Amino acid sequence: MWKSAHEHVLKLTVYEPGKPVEELARDLGLREEEIIKLASNENPLGPSPKALEAMRRTLERSHFYPDGGGYELRGAIAERLGFGFARENIVLGNGSNEIIEFIGHAFFRPGDEVVVARHSFAVYKLMAQLFGADTVEVPDPGFTADLEAMFAAINSKTRVLFLANPNNPTGTLVGQEAIDRFMARVPAHVLVVFDEAYYEFLDEGVAPDVLKYVGEGRNVVVMRTFSKIMGLANLRIGYGVTTPELAAVLQRTRQPFNANGIAQAGALAGLLDEEHMRKTRELTHEGREYLEREFAAMGLEYVPSVANFVLVNVGDGNALFQSMLRKGIILRAMASYGLPEWIRISVGTMDQNRRCIEEMKALAKDGKLPA
Ligand SMILES: Cc1ncc(COP(=O)(O)O)c(C=O)c1O
Repeated sequence: MWKSAHEHVLKLTVYEPGKPVEELARDLGLREEEIIKLASNENPLGPSPKALEAMRRTLERSHFYPDGGGYELRGAIAERLGFGFARENIVLGNGSNEIIEFIGHAFFRPGDEVVVARHSFAVYKLMAQLFGADTVEVPDPGFTADLEAMFAAINSKTRVLFLANPNNPTGTLVGQEAIDRFMARVPAHVLVVFDEAYYEFLDEGVAPDVLKYVGEGRNVVVMRTFSKIMGLANLRIGYGVTTPELAAVLQRTRQPFNANGIAQAGALAGLLDEEHMRKTRELTHEGREYLEREFAAMGLEYVPSVANFVLVNVGDGNALFQSMLRKGIILRAMASYGLPEWIRISVGTMDQNRRCIEEMKALAKDGKLPA
């Protein structure tokens, strides 16, 4: 029976997540509290306290199905976005990952092409594969997406173009001017998806405005998530902002209760928790500067980041990943992104960042790092 599954499903690459803390604790016989995970760009401060409180209240209502339409949360997101956005512009996903899947359900056909930057978020390609579409990976010199080259890769078969901005795993940003130049020329048969999972980490005045293109009725989806700055990755909730017409199409592809009620309640409270977001942003800036400074001092090449992680060249990413695991520190090796020399380190608390750097320095001393 299994052999009769769709060919493209049988060939599907399996997504490699960050190693869970529980798994390493089992492997090494450690207590979970002794382990540091800097592998999945999570929030080291934990969930927004306001979100936690709201979720505790909602737990009491676990016997009810959630509001599958996400009335309140979609309304609150639209209101916060401003610029006349309404509930009809918003689609909730079981993580923003699910929005990518909705796009696949709605638009990908075998033989379609999906344009991405060479080192961008892995899930775009996986979703394209799942629906039998082909991924066109465009070189990204200096680890920054090259929208001119991505535009040149568009042809009559191109269905969707994904731009993660800031990008994961490189932490780089494409600016307003390049986006505007691209949007002025992109043909109408291409859906442009701006994935802004790390948007809230950007300094003021730096974030490009792409919501204006949704407002203008262009074929654009902007994705955001509650997993990162709001610290709610475990809940699996994110959203897409798009035109009411495209939103209505994406809504048809989802399961009736895709975003659970506890997640919706947490997200609603987290959305309004400015204090938690501010603290997270400050901690991220401090930690990122520290990590980058230490990498420079160790003579390691890194990609200057605007997000909550840094990509750093350590010679053999997998070897460092394994050595650090033995010290109870989980990082993310990058071989699956075609970057075997590199490792991605999420910004943690300052204590976690310091422990990580100390262990790296100890390895460098033992000649296990190129520095
Ligand atoms: C660029 C990017 N997009 C989307 C996601 C998915 O986030 P989630 O499904 O947790 O909302 C991630 C997660 O790491 C990401 O890095």
